[in-house]
Amino acid sequence: MINHANVSGLYKGLDCQGSQPVKVTPIINGEAEVNYQNLNEYIIKTKCIKCHQGPQAEPENDPVDLSSYELIMEDRFIPVLIKGSPQRSRLFLTVESFEMPPKVPLEPEEIEFIRKWIENCAPKDSKVGNCNGSGSGDDGPGDDEPGDDEPSDD
Ligand code: HEC
Repeated sequence: MINHANVSGLYKGLDCQGSQPVKVTPIINGEAEVNYQNLNEYIIKTKCIKCHQGPQAEPENDPVDLSSYELIMEDRFIPVLIKGSPQRSRLFLTVESFEMPPKVPLEPEEIEFIRKWIENCAPKDSKVGNCNGSGSGDDGPGDDEPGDDEPSDD
């Protein structure tokens, strides 16, 4: 005899919002200053890191390691984050679309926190970041900006 309930029913059942009590964090109750320290403490460490750290970081072909500020800001082919531009940042887009974390969407306040953080230029431990630092993503070779011509021939 096969017990179907044990096999397929399990995961879906946990999906439903409201079926689990939400743990209220300073981000959810609006008390946390928008910076990396709080993002790391109340979202990344509890909801992302188990799949996004070290050699096992997902996805295998383009590992996204979220275990430090520097790694998140790392210059890479498709950046994880572009300071000032949530709409171009995978870190925001994947949580906004509920793609991440898989099966357990973030709370609206948490998604908004990430959006604001990126928009504020991703400050590390203060209130205001600096969009001109590394990770702005606007000065790489291959950007198709007008006036961004290759070596000029004047
Ligand atoms: C249960 C494991 C797991 C958790 C928890 C998780 N992720 Fe992921 N993440 C994955 C997997 C698997 C992929 C690759 C998915 C794919 O390629 O479709 C991925 C991919 C990503 C990507 C790259 C997506 C892309 O399209 O380039 C980002 C960014 C990301 N995750 C951010 C997060 C954030 C932020 C959190 C926490 C809020 C989180 N993840 C939590 C497993 C996880």
